[in-house]
Amino acid sequence: MVTKIITQHLRHPKNTLMGRVTQRLMERENRFLEQNAVRLCEIQADNTVLECPVLLKVGFGPGLGLQEAVQYLTQPRGKLLGLDYSEYMHKVASERLRDHIASGKVRLFQGRVESIPLPACSVDKVYHCNCHLYWPDMRAGSAELLRVMRPGALMVSTLNLDYLRWGLSLGFLQGANVEPEPYLEALRAAGFTDVRLEEKYHEGRKFEAIFATAEKQRESNVLK
Ligand SMILES: C[S@@+](CC[C@H](N)C(=O)[O-])C[C@H]1O[C@@H](n2cnc3c(N)ncnc32)[C@H](O)[C@@H]1O
Repeated sequence: MVTKIITQHLRHPKNTLMGRVTQRLMERENRFLEQNAVRLCEIQADNTVLECPVLLKVGFGPGLGLQEAVQYLTQPRGKLLGLDYSEYMHKVASERLRDHIASGKVRLFQGRVESIPLPACSVDKVYHCNCHLYWPDMRAGSAELLRVMRPGALMVSTLNLDYLRWGLSLGFLQGANVEPEPYLEALRAAGFTDVRLEEKYHEGRKFEAIFATAEKQRESNVLK
């Protein structure tokens, strides 16, 4: 029963007692994955290629990954966008990023990955952690990500497969797509290139990262 309720709140956090417990769990367990997703996005402080990088964080949850990424956006025109369909997470993350939202550096949307409220080809990097496993339609989500990404833009998703499989064995994450293959297939089917899963280590800790690139040839179609 408890495992089912926590899983419901991981999928769609709400402002209830168990929702708040789940929020604390995410804040305690997921910072490492959030930090590494941002690190693998390679947003350099003095990025000479991207003068005004636009990053999109999908499924920002309590906002730790937003907090991490905003430190790298040192250029005045760099922007960080966030998308999460949970009203509660939108409120929690908005409070956490209050000053950056007020300055216009960060903008948070309450919405679904299957219908992202952004124009086509408007984002340079997309990152997420522990989010795609809950999407009801990975193909629709992947196609939407591709639509909003600029040609050549990179998507990074970090996960800890051992931890997720362990959670599943304990009765958590029922109904979630813990195994990565369906997501890799959905990304390829949507038209992403260089889709791959890599085993990674940071400071001795293992995790996995999924990479996908919005194909460069789209440029000619997009700019017509
Ligand atoms: C398990 S939490 C992970 C939060 C954070 N990334 C972390 O690792 O701590 C999953 C988040 O994704 C959001 N989410 C799940 N499916 C979504 C969808 N289809 N569109 C937008 N947000 C979604 C949920 O509301 C939730 O905040």
